Amino acid sequence: MHCVRTIAPDVLYVGGSDRRLALFENIYPIPRGVSYNAYLVLDEKTVLLDTVDKSVGERFFENLEYGLQGRMLDYVVVNHMEPDHAATLSELLRRYPDVEVVGSVKTMSMIDQFFGLDLSGHSRTVKEGDTLISGHHTFTFAMAPMVHWPEVMVTYDTTEKILFSADAFGTFGALGGNLFADELDFQGQWLPDARRYYANIVGKYGVQVQSLLKKAAGLDIAMVCPLHGPIWRKDIGWFVEKYQRWSTYTPEEKGVFIACASVYGNTENAAEIVAARLAENGVREIALYDLSQHPVSDMVGEAFRFSHLVLAASTYNNGIFTPMENLLLDLKAHNFQRRTVALIENGSWAPQSGKLMAELVGSMKEMTVLQNTVTLKSTAKEDQRAALEALADALAADILS
Ligand code: FEO
Repeated sequence: MHCVRTIAPDVLYVGGSDRRLALFENIYPIPRGVSYNAYLVLDEKTVLLDTVDKSVGERFFENLEYGLQGRMLDYVVVNHMEPDHAATLSELLRRYPDVEVVGSVKTMSMIDQFFGLDLSGHSRTVKEGDTLISGHHTFTFAMAPMVHWPEVMVTYDTTEKILFSADAFGTFGALGGNLFADELDFQGQWLPDARRYYANIVGKYGVQVQSLLKKAAGLDIAMVCPLHGPIWRKDIGWFVEKYQRWSTYTPEEKGVFIACASVYGNTENAAEIVAARLAENGVREIALYDLSQHPVSDMVGEAFRFSHLVLAASTYNNGIFTPMENLLLDLKAHNFQRRTVALIENGSWAPQSGKLMAELVGSMKEMTVLQNTVTLKSTAKEDQRAALEALADALAADILS
């Protein structure tokens, strides 16, 4: 049964949410689910903006059929060809064989790559600044390569001032009833998933996101319709400011992300001593995690949030205990940069993790590693308390300055 909502005059939400998928892109846990947004504009011509993942395909086609009310579908704008949006495109073309496909030149070649479809005669390749007039509405297209794939573009409806932003401004989390961010406790309940989505999906492409933000700044935007998560029509500037920070690798909070990779809890004990001293110094933004207990994608999000990091890891097989190594490799892969880092290493016979963590952190851009790394041999000893506290004092002084 269809489940359609009108979000603006002539504009319907025809997407759906998946609350069963465990791993988005088969890697990122999504305990709150995910939505695959698609939008239908009913004008003199009908325009569909993107399709959906296969998992919500049945609902999407019911929604589309209901929204069209027997009319033909004239255009499908493909802003992004990743299968979480485009897996149902070939089925759409089978059901609506006369539809004209609108997309970038790379989108057209990807349609061929994915589906082996011949679109000749019913495709329209668009480039920066091209327009599509559906009657009352005029759409303009802006290329947004690598936000998050090379073929990506965004579509601006100059009539309703809606930016169909593809993956940009997306968020993990299924939608249920309320579609607009201002109808939800976004800051309290959605922001961590928005940050985690940004950091893990487009975090690597800060330069390209900056380029898109510059283009968007030149538009009069009343509504942002992303391909995942809530729609924005109020406080858009607040979310844009988050994107400004994330895409320039600027922390949101002056505080400390303390990441522990501890086999038996002794490394974690040292980290707790640092956390306690930070608190005594007046640092209030402290988040201490046992990396073994959290998906690495959550930790990447937290790293993006904070200005300072304490990395505390055991030595393991003469390397870095795996949960920490995984986090650092993931942060490097996402172009993480511009932070201050303190290190705690542990090793019962040959501590190596400090040197190896410093090498990995040093391979990232504009990272400052404090020199006073603390080395534990199996456990923190009372005569090491001063060194741990000195580490915390140095961090606190930097944070509170
Ligand atoms: Fe939601 Fe890059 O796809």
